[in-house]
Amino acid sequence: MLQRLWPLAARAYATKAPRIVAVEEGLDRLLKVQWDDGQEGRFPLVWLRDCSPDPITYTFSPAMTARNFWMRDFDVRPSIKELQPTEDGTSILIEWDGGHMSRFTSDWLRLRNPLDEQAKQHRRKFYLFPEDTWDRGTIEKRLKTFDFGEMLKDDNVLHDFLEAVCLDGIAKLTNGPGRGAVEQIGQRILLIHRTHFGKVFEVSTKADASNMAYASNGELPFHTDFPSLADPPQLQMLHMVTRAAEGGNSLFCDGFHIAKLLRERHPDVFETLCNYTTEYIEEGFDVHAGDDGQPKNFPFKMAARHSVFKRNAAGEVVQVQFGNAMRSWFYDCPPEDVQKIYDAMKLFTKYCYEPENILKFQLQDGETVLWANKRLLHTRDNFRNSEGSARTLEGCYFSWDIIKSRVRQIRAQLRRPEDQPSA
Ligand code: OGA
Ligand code: ZN
Repeated sequence: MLQRLWPLAARAYATKAPRIVAVEEGLDRLLKVQWDDGQEGRFPLVWLRDCSPDPITYTFSPAMTARNFWMRDFDVRPSIKELQPTEDGTSILIEWDGGHMSRFTSDWLRLRNPLDEQAKQHRRKFYLFPEDTWDRGTIEKRLKTFDFGEMLKDDNVLHDFLEAVCLDGIAKLTNGPGRGAVEQIGQRILLIHRTHFGKVFEVSTKADASNMAYASNGELPFHTDFPSLADPPQLQMLHMVTRAAEGGNSLFCDGFHIAKLLRERHPDVFETLCNYTTEYIEEGFDVHAGDDGQPKNFPFKMAARHSVFKRNAAGEVVQVQFGNAMRSWFYDCPPEDVQKIYDAMKLFTKYCYEPENILKFQLQDGETVLWANKRLLHTRDNFRNSEGSARTLEGCYFSWDIIKSRVRQIRAQLRRPEDQPSA
């Protein structure tokens, strides 16, 4: 049953979005909108009032878009006093009980129409989630490489580099300098994620190694960095200062892809890897610049528990954690379940090492790779240094919030077509 219905005059106007031809307020507390291309939308009244893009509900200033409207003061069962679509079909005007006025343009409503699958897909892009997983054949065709100097001076190149990392989980830079490159990239991205290894760390063979990667020129096992932390770094970057004379290749495998294969082929193993946690311990010390910039001894004793796969509420695998740290204890299962956890980890590892799942390349001097640490597993193969020259990499970590914010902010600043307004 309708409370009000206003068919609109069907007049041709040059607007970006299709014209609104009818609106009606139903008893189900939804506003029904009909467009001239046949699309329909149903918008909850409470949500429309909540998100009303007006200067009383929000403060719009160059330094912030912030909500003024508090839940404490919000009548969450708002009712409409007057509903008035504009004659040209480009907007809907609402006067709410209590006198607040809202204007919703056709574009604004189309972008947020919960019945429109395309709008949903478009919105998903705002979150920059990966759209598919990869095996070797796919990523060898798709892996993106950008010029270091171009990335430094052109925001479009920085955008494309970071967007590729969001979607593929990995991208490269080439033609960079030696030491100091990581700091320069960090300044472009704006914020480096600090850990117990400091801000920028160096991977080379060292006396008093604080990590197995620094202990020898041997290969490493496939791993994600720091499952010993409750909140491990989300992205990792390595930059080759001096490559080895031979070997020291970088290898990657898409953990989301392995999860997909195991889910299809071995659902019981997949469930085990989702449902049981393993303990990871890491202890020792690292010497790096403290807050005052002076070298400082940083002792640590880290401990955390993770399942290999972590799912979100929709059942999608959103994180992969797997390392070679100590596995001291299983807290959350009876001892008879432990064997199947090892069987599952063994099969998981076998899949990671299948050549068809591995991306392998040699980072040349001045090249950088940035990847999703909680999606891809990585390793290196063993290497041989030439006389007087030691394989040396610089590295650091980043967080998704900073990377994705930078992508969105460049989209807005450069008015790129992928930009999505927030209010
Ligand atoms: C590491 C690591 C890779 C390499 O330090 O965690 O994985 O190429 N290093 O040395
Ligand atoms: Zn590593």
